[in-house]
Amino acid sequence: MKKHRLVSLPNLKEAAGRNLSKPIDYTKVNLQASSFLSSWGAGKTFCIKTYGCQANVRDSEIIKSLLLSIGMVEQDDFLGASLILFNTCAVRENAENHLYGELGRAKENYDKNHDCIIGICGCVMQEEFAVKHVLKHFPFVSMIFGTNNITSFLSLLNDVVQYNQSIVDVRSNSDLVPEGFPEDRTGRSSSITAFVNIMYGCNKFCTYCIVPYTRGRERSRKEENIIAEVKCLKEQGYKQVTLLGQNVDAYGKDFGDEYAFAGLLEKVAQTGIERVRFVTPYPSDFKTEVFDVMAKYDNIMPYLHLPVQSGSDAILKKMNRRYTREQYLSIVHELRRRLPDVFLSTDIIVGFPNESDQDFEDTLSLVKEVSYDAAFTFIYSPRPGTPAARMEDKVSMETKHERFDRLKALIDECAQKRADAYIGKTVEVLFEKVSDKDKTRISGYDRHNKLVHVKGDSSLIGTIRKVKVTESHLYSLIGELLDD
Ligand code: 5AD
Ligand code: SF4
Repeated sequence: MKKHRLVSLPNLKEAAGRNLSKPIDYTKVNLQASSFLSSWGAGKTFCIKTYGCQANVRDSEIIKSLLLSIGMVEQDDFLGASLILFNTCAVRENAENHLYGELGRAKENYDKNHDCIIGICGCVMQEEFAVKHVLKHFPFVSMIFGTNNITSFLSLLNDVVQYNQSIVDVRSNSDLVPEGFPEDRTGRSSSITAFVNIMYGCNKFCTYCIVPYTRGRERSRKEENIIAEVKCLKEQGYKQVTLLGQNVDAYGKDFGDEYAFAGLLEKVAQTGIERVRFVTPYPSDFKTEVFDVMAKYDNIMPYLHLPVQSGSDAILKKMNRRYTREQYLSIVHELRRRLPDVFLSTDIIVGFPNESDQDFEDTLSLVKEVSYDAAFTFIYSPRPGTPAARMEDKVSMETKHERFDRLKALIDECAQKRADAYIGKTVEVLFEKVSDKDKTRISGYDRHNKLVHVKGDSSLIGTIRKVKVTESHLYSLIGELLDD
């Protein structure tokens, strides 16, 4: 096995101590492949496995478009592929464990063909202990890079292939807002809906969360580049964009403009693209100006994912969430007053260190009061290097699981009631694909981002049609296509 060339190793302390006064670098990156790499890549196959959030999905799309640009061909399964890449998620421990299982399977590929390149990128590789673990237990991995190194992906791959090296290059910090990624649609996962990064990183440092260490300081893309990307997507026939940021309300703070997100959202809506949505707002930073823009433009989807994390003030404080239960509830009331039919979803963590019965009851009562359309629930997972991982925790795993089940049952009950209210209504559905389970059905999303299935064929893909809802399920609606 080759010895790894350690260009740079991650460092969580360094990642936390970033210098916010350093200027941001908006350089247009050079993504030109060497002629060596282009002739190596022609006709070879690759497989990318992506875990985690939309930021990772978008990063994988960019890597995919770079690999296609050197003539490589994508395949779904990694068996037999010349390049296997894992784009990892570090938010919870089970995603990390899953990676180690998958690496065992990838090794079978490597054993059959030593020319096969196995690479790992994404948030897990920003953790020094994880990189050490991979180097020790999976030495056949020949390419390790981080979330801040995608711009140098092709030159890294070139060195691995041309000089037969194994390389670790993970920058802990970045002041870069990269521009100039391929604009063609080849790398995108869909030809109908597209993710558009509006900013990178997070400065919030919620005590349980690893993201500020793995994705770096908040840095916003320039408005003109975002609008140009949306216009380009519209010209290519895309119907929907999702604006991405860990904390979209912070958009523009690095230019000194606290209210920039509302302005950006309005300009995106004015491009006339059929549908716009965004993830993720942070409750106490969410400005009512954004509600006004949402109410003003029909093409902004009445959909909001507003993570609450807990209904207990004591736990919110320990989480370093910068709002109280009352403040969160008043934002929700204001939102529903202005956008009565808004679809509201959230994230909730149960079993945060020393969460008491009363803290948990407070979460249940908040869920009842808000009555969410959907919620993602997680059992707290300690992330080494974060402050919460050092907190005392006397709550047993059994109690955490019991609480998780009770919370899930309540959320499902609320969500089902809200879904039932759609029955008999007419919704507008953007059709995206033939249903996986039933090939006579076609599936899409209504303006609230509710999944809808109807009888129909692939000719409907990419069209927006009216549908009468006849049946409701927890995660989807069934309906009949109406004549236009
Ligand atoms: N344990 C459990 N859930 C977590 N999340 C983030 N960090 C952790 C953790 N350490 C959840 C939060 C966040 C979502 C993306 O993941 O609810 O909003
Ligand atoms: Fe993590 Fe909190 Fe930032 Fe969200 S706002 S990415 S939960 S630190």
